[in-house]
Amino acid sequence: MFQRWSTKKSPRPVAGLLFMLALAVTFMVLYDERSIHHDNTNREQDLKETSTLTSFVHPNLPSRNDLEVLDRFSRCNSTNEYSGKKMEWVDHLCSGQGSDFVAAKENICDVFSGKWVFDNSSSYPLHKESDCPYMSEQLACEKYGRPDLEYQHWRWQPHPPCNLKRWNVTEMWEMLRGKRMMFVGDSLNRGQWFVSYSLLSHDYNATVEFLWAPFLVESNSDDPVYRKLVERIIRPDSVLKHVAMWQHADILIFNTYLWWRRPVKIQWSSREKGSCKEVKGAEGMEMAMNTWAHWISSNVDPNKKRLFFVTMSREWNPGSEGNCYGEKKPIEEESYWGSGSDIPTMRMVERVLRRLGPKVSVLSITQLSDYRKDGHPSVYRKFWEPLNDERLKNPASYADCNHWCVPGVPDVWNQLLFHFL
Ligand SMILES: *[C@@H]1O[C@H](CO)[C@@H](O)[C@H](O)[C@H]1NC(C)=O
Ligand SMILES: *[C@@H]1O[C@H](CO)[C@@H](O)[C@H](O)[C@H]1NC(C)=O
Ligand SMILES: *[C@@H]1O[C@H](CO)[C@@H](O)[C@H](O)[C@H]1NC(C)=O
Ligand SMILES: *[C@@H]1O[C@H](CO)[C@@H](O)[C@H](O)[C@H]1NC(C)=O
Repeated sequence: MFQRWSTKKSPRPVAGLLFMLALAVTFMVLYDERSIHHDNTNREQDLKETSTLTSFVHPNLPSRNDLEVLDRFSRCNSTNEYSGKKMEWVDHLCSGQGSDFVAAKENICDVFSGKWVFDNSSSYPLHKESDCPYMSEQLACEKYGRPDLEYQHWRWQPHPPCNLKRWNVTEMWEMLRGKRMMFVGDSLNRGQWFVSYSLLSHDYNATVEFLWAPFLVESNSDDPVYRKLVERIIRPDSVLKHVAMWQHADILIFNTYLWWRRPVKIQWSSREKGSCKEVKGAEGMEMAMNTWAHWISSNVDPNKKRLFFVTMSREWNPGSEGNCYGEKKPIEEESYWGSGSDIPTMRMVERVLRRLGPKVSVLSITQLSDYRKDGHPSVYRKFWEPLNDERLKNPASYADCNHWCVPGVPDVWNQLLFHFL
């Protein structure tokens, strides 16, 4: 379920206890019925769905036992297209501050805008691939035979006069002393977690964890081992199960995107078992982001918790020009945006984050990552499924242009995190 490592010398039984307590967490999902519009043949049913939803907003919160388990064995035995409108969440603590969108930007400096500079001084890369004791086979490009290692030597340089805070691993660990930091999301956030892991060098009482939650909301794909299911079912109105895991963290770093690129089936908490609706990935993501945002707006005290959201990083796949296979250098053209730019989704994410205001700092890594067509594993990683001769003859057909080699681009994401911690 849950992967973690810790700099603590001895395991503390208290942690287990905390998790037990965490299970008693309250159920806090609220959709505003007013924002549903009903102009469709299925309107009655969708209306019914939402009214059952509102019944969850009840002072006597249902216990976890009342809810169906959604796991990798869950199936849909009926699927209809969803026709209800996307639902909105209601601000509680945030009202009045919704308009100041605080990307983790300072007033003067936008450290997310700049360029990649080749730096083969001894300080880059920040760590070696072999320093990573639990490295993912997906990201170990050097180990899987990548001949050109320049991809490890690029430094992110924001436009002058801005600079990234000088990287200092001791300082990073000082900031994390006595704290719990948790990455929550998909394999990209896991890559960043591996980087933090690799940088571990001192005994600070800090815990850095990763929670596999590719949709942020609950889903049947939340098992980090058996996650590749043909039918992806999410529970768009609930993060409850995940909250139990993450609510004790002092610093939370979220991401979600990759898994929304195809349709998903939704199953409301309150609906009959097996009855699903299908939505486009982008719509499902919007529901999930709103549920997540609602949890934050009602539960997070920004003086006690630091929250970050890492924006999407996308597959590099410019069509006729091939893909990331064989790419050895970043794109130099400034203000390049990947051809796969999913602008509507980016705007949706911005809207949600803007409403959360200063509660969530945004790590806007989309564009700076887009430049790094050279940073993907391509064919230099472990592939779980056997590759037949035909595919082997055409490496671009199976090159991985989604993930990122470590060390590499995720180290820079980590430096950006350090900059804002
Ligand atoms: C650094 O890069 C420059 C230019 O590519 C090259 O001439 C030099 O030998 C490199 N130095 C090291 C230590 O790799
Ligand atoms: C890194 O930070 C530590 C603690 O703040 C400081 O003592 C050390 O001099 C710093 N190292 C560098 C290279 O700046
Ligand atoms: C370690 O950090 C935890 C908080 O995560 C704190 O409760 C505990 O007292 C710390 N232990 C030491 C030895 O500093
Ligand atoms: C749908 O499937 C579930 C098992 O996933 C089963 O328990 C339930 O009775 C089925 N419902 C209908 C209406 O067939």
